[in-house]
Amino acid sequence: MRATPVLEVRGLEKHFLGRRRLFGATAPALKAVQLVSFSLQAGNALGVVGESGCGKSTLAKTIMGLHEPTGGEVLLDGRDVRDIPRKEFASRVQFVFQDPYSSLNPRKTVRQTLDAPMRHLAGLDAPAREERAAELLDLVGLRPEFAGRYPHEFSGGQRQRIGIARALAASADVLLLDEPVSALDVSVQAQVLNLLRKLQRELGLTYLFIAHDLAVVENLCDEVAVMYLGRIVEQAPREVLFREPRHPYTHTLLSAVPVPGQARGQRLRLVAPGDASGLTDEGVGCAFAPRCYRAEPRCREELPPLDDAAVGHPVACHFASDTDPKEHAG
Ligand SMILES: Nc1ncnc2c1ncn2[C@@H]1O[C@H](COP(=O)(O)OP(=O)(O)OP(=O)(O)O)[C@@H](O)[C@H]1O
Ligand SMILES: [Mg+2]
Repeated sequence: MRATPVLEVRGLEKHFLGRRRLFGATAPALKAVQLVSFSLQAGNALGVVGESGCGKSTLAKTIMGLHEPTGGEVLLDGRDVRDIPRKEFASRVQFVFQDPYSSLNPRKTVRQTLDAPMRHLAGLDAPAREERAAELLDLVGLRPEFAGRYPHEFSGGQRQRIGIARALAASADVLLLDEPVSALDVSVQAQVLNLLRKLQRELGLTYLFIAHDLAVVENLCDEVAVMYLGRIVEQAPREVLFREPRHPYTHTLLSAVPVPGQARGQRLRLVAPGDASGLTDEGVGCAFAPRCYRAEPRCREELPPLDDAAVGHPVACHFASDTDPKEHAG
């Protein structure tokens, strides 16, 4: 029998109400997250990947309770989070933001930033906080003397290390990482990803790792969910998803991932025309159909269910078992 997942999301929905237009008409609600379900075992990492505006941050914020869900539920260790006191939840689940600079208080030293969660969430007394602060800096690879410095004195990568230390200061074991390396230079990205991997190994942390490109999640995540306009369209263990992607959107994302040692020309180049901005998912037909190389009339009329009937892992495509993209490469 499988253990109870540390984090489970069932049928989660978040709709933003449409703005009122002139003459009293209201724009339709924007369905930023639609029927998203997954479960995460302790010590595992799930990557959530998709282009800008597909609802990744809204998903993470709804799990955190920063947005009231429109439907569905979130469970922590099998308990509905609505039954868990805020403080207890915050001592288990923490957010790491994309932009470490704007998420750190510029008037607080590193030591002060770490102090509040250690005191209020981890419940440590002054001597224990002193010791733990030094331990945390060491864990994230920052020198002890950095404790007295302010955010502006650090580089982007160092600030993200502080953001990670702050999450750990709360004693959290589940981290929701919202594009934690997107704002960093490529070489610094690799260092922060290595740090996250090391922390996961040493502390047994559980990650929900959000990114807009697949390359970032490739080495860190056990499982990957691909999101398009609010819905998961494919989810599989990492090796399966990279070896045998089935959704045309996953193919398109993968064809943009550079492979070390392989010239770009050797890879298929699939291009989904346009981007998702301005598109909405009305729930009629497949939302990706307007950009899909494989689409047929049926795709615009009938919403493909997300199930594993065709290929053994969940894919929401009518042609999941025959989406060989070679004949469509440009
Ligand atoms: N507070 C809000 N009110 C209304 N609409 C919102 C709100 N927050 C997000 N949205 C809309 O919900 C959709 C999903 O946004 P979200 O920020 O979750 O996307 P994302 O995948 O995180 O994008 P990015 O990669 O750019 O961070 C977008 O269309 C966005 O405009
Ligand atoms: Mg976002």
